Amino acid sequence: KKERTLAMIKPDAVTKIGDIIQMIYSENLLVTKAKMTKLSWKQAADFYSEHQSKPFFNNLVQFVTSGPVVAMEVMGDEAVSAWRKILGPTDSAAARSDAPRSLRAQLGTDGTKNAAHGSDSLASAARELEFFFPSTTSGGPSSTA
Ligand code: CMP
Repeated sequence: KKERTLAMIKPDAVTKIGDIIQMIYSENLLVTKAKMTKLSWKQAADFYSEHQSKPFFNNLVQFVTSGPVVAMEVMGDEAVSAWRKILGPTDSAAARSDAPRSLRAQLGTDGTKNAAHGSDSLASAARELEFFFPSTTSGGPSSTA
């Protein structure tokens, strides 16, 4: 089933955008929107609000606001799970032992600096795509997606 998901390249991997886009296309997914932006603390805390009570929340928000991120809409068959499979396990060290060809194994550092994010469900994807690519009725060129 064709789906859309939100991929976010985190500040530690923005210079690897070329490798990441190659990994997406080589799994037969498409990048249908893209935006580079620097998130404010408030924006990052809102994006990750489901984690606000976790012990790593402040580190996470600190990290994703430490530099630019690149948000992408990724489209294709089972895109939500397909993109998360490309990412591999959340912890980059675990990824290196359990999924050595995964994106996080190759480009991530640890459990927080893990190169990229992927929506964990269709509902999260809808929310996260709207966060980065809000629906509008006017103002600027239309998307081709
Ligand atoms: P992400 O896929 O963006 O979703 C939530 C993020 O929180 C996750 O990637 C990591 O960057 C971070 N995270 C999740 N679990 C931990 C953890 N145990 N310790 C530190 N950071 C974590």
